[in-house]
Amino acid sequence: MATAEGVQAVKVLIAGGAGFIGSTVASACLDAGMSPVILDSLVTGRREFTAGRSFYEGDIADGPLIDRIFAEHPDIGAVIHCAALIVVPDSVADPVGYYRANVAKSLEFAAHLLRNGGARLIFSSSAAIYRPGADLSVDEDSPVDPASPYARTKAVCEAMFADIAAAEPIRVLSLRYFNPIGADPKMRTGLQLRRPTHALGKLIQASQDGVPFVITGTDWPTRDGTGLRDYIHVWDLAAAHVAALTRFDTLPGPVTVINLGTGTGTTVRELAAAFNQVADRPVQVREAGRRPGDIAGACTRTGRAQRLLGWRPQYDLTEGIRHSLQWAALRDEVLSGEPARRLSPPER
Ligand SMILES: NC(=O)c1ccc[n+]([C@@H]2O[C@H](COP(=O)([O-])OP(=O)(O)OC[C@H]3O[C@@H](n4cnc5c(N)ncnc54)[C@H](O)[C@@H]3O)[C@@H](O)[C@H]2O)c1
Repeated sequence: MATAEGVQAVKVLIAGGAGFIGSTVASACLDAGMSPVILDSLVTGRREFTAGRSFYEGDIADGPLIDRIFAEHPDIGAVIHCAALIVVPDSVADPVGYYRANVAKSLEFAAHLLRNGGARLIFSSSAAIYRPGADLSVDEDSPVDPASPYARTKAVCEAMFADIAAAEPIRVLSLRYFNPIGADPKMRTGLQLRRPTHALGKLIQASQDGVPFVITGTDWPTRDGTGLRDYIHVWDLAAAHVAALTRFDTLPGPVTVINLGTGTGTTVRELAAAFNQVADRPVQVREAGRRPGDIAGACTRTGRAQRLLGWRPQYDLTEGIRHSLQWAALRDEVLSGEPARRLSPPER
């Protein structure tokens, strides 16, 4: 595959490219001289994030549409599949809907890609599929034991794509994301939701509303008893996709799995302290018990991403918080109203 510096511009189809991560990946591709083609149903994505970009509104399971995209862009060299529903509690309430949206449609999508000669697939997977060990760190060989229907859809898709790659002329890279924060540093895109429900979203909300931030759960097996996450700046995630596109043909197998995290776990207490260093309006912290479905969390033991992609995160936690705050202040200028569906669950 031609590299970013190569003679031929890399054209990449990004399914889910109007969402938080996919739109950031599209921006990173553009900045690297690649040409993204966006396919998105806008079920949670935003049309504003596709402005000025090649955009097809529709479903990944829509065969005639995928055929049309490939007919109009025969030079698509790779596909990034970010399209999914991602709200853990919704997946518990509606497993049929989630398996249909994330698994059945991904299977259809794979068949449509094969028919059109799609040979390189990068799949957005999740660290939520792991069962972490006692020290809460995981690597790509750690046990897979998803704790929610949402996470299970990701694990099932990985297994399904691996079986397909073993039999068909397609190679698959699954990127297992940890906990994305921040926004495009150029503020083209960020989280769609006005009031995200993950810990950083709640810190921002508490700061805006002048109310205390409530830590839910202080008896986890972590250094200070609060949940631990591996917060990765979304621009670093996006940069990893650019690196993966550039190096795709050097990856070892028909199937490769790579964790994308910083390698540093941050507890909720540490996140709140870091937030108060950055925010104009610091928050007071209160403590409460665990909520149903909460987990201790995990961080990655990095190594493979650096070895195979030559990638390592460039942004630290403080910059992620700063960019999230900046986006929260700008969001209503870029986006009007709420997306149709709830986004940004506590755990993904
Ligand atoms: N955000 C996270 O914390 C996180 C963590 C790990 C993995 N992931 C994975 O990353 C990917 C992107 O997540 P995100 O945070 O950007 O979510 P998002 O909801 O912002 O983006 C998903 C996009 O996919 C689109 N979409 C959904 N179903 C579709 C379909 N059938 N056809 C066409 N488009 C469809 C939505 O409209 C949306 O634009 C997902 O696959 C998710 O599972 C996200």
